[in-house]
Amino acid sequence: VPLQGLNTFGIAARAHTLVRLRSEQDLLDLLAHPELGRGPFFVLGGGSNIVITGDVRPVVLKMEIGGMAVVRDDERATIVEVGAGVGWHECVAWTLAQGLPGLENMALIPGTVGAAPVQNIGAYGVELQDRFESLDAIHLETGQRLRLDAAQCAFGYRDSVFKHALPQPAPDTGAVRGMGLAGRCVITRVRLRLPKPWRAELGYLDLERRRQLEGVEQPTAQQVFDWVCDIRRAKLPDPQVVGNAGSFFKNPTVTPDQCQDIIAREPRIVHYPMPDGSIKLAAGWLIEACGWKGKTIGKAGVYDKQALVLVNRGTQDDSVTGGEVMTLARAIQTSVYERFGIRLEPEPVVL
Ligand code: EPU
Repeated sequence: VPLQGLNTFGIAARAHTLVRLRSEQDLLDLLAHPELGRGPFFVLGGGSNIVITGDVRPVVLKMEIGGMAVVRDDERATIVEVGAGVGWHECVAWTLAQGLPGLENMALIPGTVGAAPVQNIGAYGVELQDRFESLDAIHLETGQRLRLDAAQCAFGYRDSVFKHALPQPAPDTGAVRGMGLAGRCVITRVRLRLPKPWRAELGYLDLERRRQLEGVEQPTAQQVFDWVCDIRRAKLPDPQVVGNAGSFFKNPTVTPDQCQDIIAREPRIVHYPMPDGSIKLAAGWLIEACGWKGKTIGKAGVYDKQALVLVNRGTQDDSVTGGEVMTLARAIQTSVYERFGIRLEPEPVVL
């Protein structure tokens, strides 16, 4: 099965077997299958956060469970239940059209609703965990249905229990938070919590600047949605046009001491203090400072408007390979490490 149309990088690779899941029952039926049911499996949503480096041997489970509905509404929040195969942006637009604001800062993030909790997607000051109620999943080894709340998902910055194979200790107390579910379950439904009363979230500099520019005192959710869409379209490549997987590295955090050292050498470095006292650095800035913006190695490139995004400079018939992307990624990691002493961690799943 060709995967080129099923990953936003547009990498030409094949899967040995691909199974489309349109319901929970489809998955339970598959797990009961004498050959295919034994796995191993790889769950594929929108394919917007993966780098495929070769043909895929695990059974690819293409998540296509649909449906969106309000399941609870009280004075504190509205709870919306969404099938894991629904496109994330479609879900954002639908809630807004129902008069249910709260997701607008996360407009235009590629991928599916089921993939959203895996890396705790976020943009412009709001993360999935800020709008999360619970999710349903099916355990691949036992076929058991699971319902996880936010604590069990152990959300972190672009992180969750679904990215770790082993139980995760809480950073502060060491108590076990999540159970370590990487590759071991399929998320089938997500419940989102849209708090009341709604308030615009304008903490992110790009958005606040836009508000001032427009001269709007109290923007509506629709305005925030439109601004986020504009900002993203100006900075981030449309995967339909230029293959990519969004930010390729996480923004690294450093201690205040480390940061002082770096600022002494690089006074213009973009950095933000975090609630826990650490300092987050803009990986895009670090990469740009190393001269990588707009550069190309083979058919893998660094986007010319956002150095944190790696892009496919090949064509449909001669696309970039996952290997080329990883070679470029390693070259960037090496130069950022040599210049700043900071190790950048890739964000997408490398398959
Ligand atoms: N910057 C540069 N050069 C660059 C890129 C960025 O100097 O080439 C500077 C910018 O000027 C800005 C700062 O870095 O001062 C931050 O840039 P930006 O606002 O574009 O956000 P980001 O930190 O690069 C993160 C997320 C994005 C998310 C945006 C908005 C990560 C890894 N990325 O990017 O998420 O859309 O913030 O919230 O956290 C994704 O995860 O795939 C993704 C696109």
